[in-house]
Amino acid sequence: MNKNRSVPIYWGRNHAKIPSAINADATSIIPETTKIRTKLLRWFKRNERDLPWRKTKDPYAIWVSEIMLQQTQVATVIPYYEKFLKTFPTIQSLAQAHLSKVLKVWEGLGYYSRARNLHQASRLIEKRFKGKIPDNLKDLLDLPGIGRYTAGAILSIVFNKTVAILDGNVKRVLSRLYAISGNPAISKTEDLLWHISESLVPKGRASLFNQAIMDLGAMICTPKDPQCPKCPLIDLCKAYGSGKPERFPSKAMNKKIPHIESVAAVIRKDRKVLLRQRPLRGLLGGLWEFPNWKIHREERLRLRLRKHIKDEFGMNVKVKESVGTFQQIYSHFKLTLFAFYCDGVKTNKKGRWVPIPRLRLLPMSRIDRKIADTIQESPLQNKS
Ligand code: ADE
Repeated sequence: MNKNRSVPIYWGRNHAKIPSAINADATSIIPETTKIRTKLLRWFKRNERDLPWRKTKDPYAIWVSEIMLQQTQVATVIPYYEKFLKTFPTIQSLAQAHLSKVLKVWEGLGYYSRARNLHQASRLIEKRFKGKIPDNLKDLLDLPGIGRYTAGAILSIVFNKTVAILDGNVKRVLSRLYAISGNPAISKTEDLLWHISESLVPKGRASLFNQAIMDLGAMICTPKDPQCPKCPLIDLCKAYGSGKPERFPSKAMNKKIPHIESVAAVIRKDRKVLLRQRPLRGLLGGLWEFPNWKIHREERLRLRLRKHIKDEFGMNVKVKESVGTFQQIYSHFKLTLFAFYCDGVKTNKKGRWVPIPRLRLLPMSRIDRKIADTIQESPLQNKS
């Protein structure tokens, strides 16, 4: 990498040169627009990634892929995308499905509100648009789970409309290309990046251009160790010119995430265990879980668990041996669950008694699935 090349940095922290005329002719306000478009499109022709959602122009399939790709790596998404479309090949089939089945197919992908919104939006599309995904921004943005990025991706990729996109990859590419030093998590910087993205999208080539910039961000302009010598935009890139491309975009301060500890109960009776369903709204909404409660470390776990079960289910249990300690890291906190077998009596009205072999049929979060797998493998399951 040439560290000594000196190239002016266009927009610094104070955004002194932010173009104010949003509707002005793009080529006049964003430097090198034509060159960027030409070089990027030429590079994409030779280097496009072979991805399953690129083999179709079905708006439904592209929509599903874009929802799955939010906060999730391509390699993780591919098998889920294929299974989802096999199970729900059309909007109609998704709209008619029970939410539980949708969550089950989504199980393990995380951010379950995406699945709930997708399902709810499919029903609205059936009702409002006779099952056809709208091809305009207003109607798309009115659907749950579709924000400016997803609407832009659908409109550009499927309908080739001249609409911009801005996700993590695109933010990084544009921050480097123009050496924008503001943190993209701050709305002023984000607005500027949206503006640049809008100005760059070429009329009639939006589908290819937006996918090209995604691929450049994923393959070349990576967060760590960017492959600058292979980049088609190297001569135009202000961050490369500064000698420190990795300094862009500036990182948000690393916030320490809280650590939550809970105690969970595997209440067993006649080879069944007691589960409860999480409320539909909120984290992991609609998924099934082993009853659990937050604790403070110094508490006597077995005593606390017994009391919680009595309070919530009106049931006296004997708290027995440990099932194990389970951990999961979510976006905003880290969870440790101490799980115990409990011997119960079937007198409660709350919750659902599930035969152990049927646990695999219910949608669960990763941590509950780990508990379910542990008890399925354990000879202890035969005890009661
Ligand atoms: N990330 C988000 N959308 C994408 C797409 N359509 N192709 C590849 N990566 C993506």
